[in-house]
Amino acid sequence: MNIYTFRDEEQFVQTGANLISSLLHTNPRAKLGLATGSTPVGLYAKLIEMNRQGLVSFAQTTTYNLDEYVGLPENHPESYRTFMNEKFFNHVDIQIERTHVPNGNAADAEAECLNYDKMLEEFGPVDLQLLGLGHNGHIGFNEPGEALSGGTHVVELQEKTRNANARFFPTLDDVPTHAITMGVATILKARQILLLVRGEDKAEIVHRALKGPITTQCPASLLQCHPNVVVLLDQGAGRLLV
Ligand code: GLP
Repeated sequence: MNIYTFRDEEQFVQTGANLISSLLHTNPRAKLGLATGSTPVGLYAKLIEMNRQGLVSFAQTTTYNLDEYVGLPENHPESYRTFMNEKFFNHVDIQIERTHVPNGNAADAEAECLNYDKMLEEFGPVDLQLLGLGHNGHIGFNEPGEALSGGTHVVELQEKTRNANARFFPTLDDVPTHAITMGVATILKARQILLLVRGEDKAEIVHRALKGPITTQCPASLLQCHPNVVVLLDQGAGRLLV
């Protein structure tokens, strides 16, 4: 695991963007696994800027998002499809039909999960999977517990997660109770993983995930099993690692 801590926000973002753009220079058809949450927003903004400057192209890229809320209309302002379109896809030269986000409104959610995995099996593995980290150690929406699911599945969100995400919704009651998420096995199949974490409030969970025991009680700790993980932290998030 290569862990880098940055004092400077610009460097933090630029390093992540450079990693993705150099992958696309080597392989313009590279498949990217993408994430939502507030952490990658700066990275997407940087990639948009680089795309406008002609420094990187997404024209031949295919993307697969980690997760989506169940039951929010696709065009709901807080759906992850809307997030991705607004924060990234609408502003770069990507072909929108090559972007995939699980369908949180599928009549048969189980079938949607199976199909998502089938598609990843057929066209994957992804070359680079971008990840953020939940306060409870979740990756995607794989919540801590006694057991984890390997493949894409429907998950009931924990109160901690719903509370953390309530800032994006009018009230806590508006936060969906369920989501579809890639499972940990699907995530770990990526050739490379890029984990981004910002903020003092994540310092403890970063320490548990990267230095603690590998346990389903902290899903991100499973990343320690992956041979090619790059972790970018700001100073706050990396505070307990020294
Ligand atoms: C969300 C997403 C995760 C994300 C995490 C952290 O619930 N499902 O993929 O990494 O929470 O979000 P943030 O970056 O806003 O702290």
